[in-house]
Amino acid sequence: VEQSIKDFISETIRTIPDFPKEGIQFKDITTLLQDKRALELTSYMLAQPFRHKSVDYVVGLESRGFLFGTNLAQDLNAGFVPVRKPGKLPAKTLSETYALEYGEDQVEIHEDAIFEGAKVIIHDDLIATGGTASAASKLIERLGGVIVGYSFIIELSFLNGRDQLTQNVPVESILIE
Ligand code: PRP
Ligand code: MG
Repeated sequence: VEQSIKDFISETIRTIPDFPKEGIQFKDITTLLQDKRALELTSYMLAQPFRHKSVDYVVGLESRGFLFGTNLAQDLNAGFVPVRKPGKLPAKTLSETYALEYGEDQVEIHEDAIFEGAKVIIHDDLIATGGTASAASKLIERLGGVIVGYSFIIELSFLNGRDQLTQNVPVESILIE
């Protein structure tokens, strides 16, 4: 049953060649979101591995990690915390800089977003190199949070992004390519 759900979800995701630049096969989840059955099944599949876990916060990564992040938080009886791109969060923030193929990028979190010892799940639509999720992990750990899981819709496993994540924490991806 789970495999047929995964196959169905997978079929609703559109791959756009050479976007945003040549050589990138862009995973477009707008076609998943617009299909009401895929939308519901994706929410269900994201929550499934964590149903019996105690979770204080789901941390969603801007911007596509916001689409399912708040819904996942509600399903797990947790709060939602955004990790955002620089300059977007209005109160006091912590920042982490991470390397890209060319140049670098930054993510930020409000410094009062989570309490010390809070159990956190990091959610994003997709993990590629793992740079974004690993920078978010550092923010949470600097605030004293404990990462109890990672949640992705799609994992591009050939990029080995999971090796960048906090060790010995379950990584739950609906679709692994
Ligand atoms: C994409 C994707 C992940 C990230 C994964 O976001 O949504 O957040 O890249 O890449 P990584 O594992 O190599 O860090 P993008 O930066 O395109 O921004 P968006 O979510 O705002 O569209
Ligand atoms: Mg993103």
